[in-house]
Amino acid sequence: MNTIRALFTVSVGKKIVMGLTGLFLCLFLIVHLSGNLLLFKQDGGAAFNEYSAFMSTSWLIRVMEFVLLFGFLFHIVEGIVLTIENRRARPHRYALNDASSNSDWTSRTMFVTGSIVFIFLIVHLNTFFVRHRFLHVEETMYDSVVYAFQRGWNGWYWAFYVVAMVLLAFHLNHGFQSAFQSLGLNHKKYTPLIKKLGLLFAIIVPAGFASMPIYFYFQQFVK
Ligand code: HEM
Repeated sequence: MNTIRALFTVSVGKKIVMGLTGLFLCLFLIVHLSGNLLLFKQDGGAAFNEYSAFMSTSWLIRVMEFVLLFGFLFHIVEGIVLTIENRRARPHRYALNDASSNSDWTSRTMFVTGSIVFIFLIVHLNTFFVRHRFLHVEETMYDSVVYAFQRGWNGWYWAFYVVAMVLLAFHLNHGFQSAFQSLGLNHKKYTPLIKKLGLLFAIIVPAGFASMPIYFYFQQFVK
């Protein structure tokens, strides 16, 4: 069996794909959040629009978008496969100890939180990425963001983001440390530190993203 095929069929290979794509997506979240912080610059959206124009014209970003797309696809497909396998194995686990029922519960919550984040992603890409990249709407990216968070879905679009970010937090909290474990980076000394780092990451990153819809939604009432 060749190495690539083993990554998708052998249990340890699947875990490696899950761990590597998970960490890659975490890295993407840091980059995406950093760029989006330009939304808070009090310049009427000039810096954010400039950044957004760079994102849609740079060939390097285009290449990275394909890498990102495959990262998401591999992560989602492997996540579904691992969940199905865990479920199939469940009947044999009834008589076992708490640790195994815990891991079953965790994998189910990972599937549920991951699925909701996936729905969020579809809605999110449709609102900004697809409308600008493929439908070439006239408005600037900054105006699209402000409109979506202040008026979208009869004023509820922002709330959907906040709920999705809470679920993203749960997904990241388990996913971050689990990625290290899947890659075999398990150590008595470092694992507790990785768990703490994961918790910090799972709070700071979703809170940073959630601060944007909250800020723009409430901004319209204080003007
Ligand atoms: C409130 C928070 C967020 C805001 C304001 C925001 C804003 C945007 C905007 C304006 C774009 C279009 C970029 C362009 O084409 O120039 C975009 C793209 C994208 N967003 Fe977000 N985003 C947020 C949260 C998230 C989260 C939490 C995820 C992942 C779970 C995510 C994933 C993506 C992806 C995959 C793309 C397409 C790739 C890219 O253009 O970089 N976004 N986002």
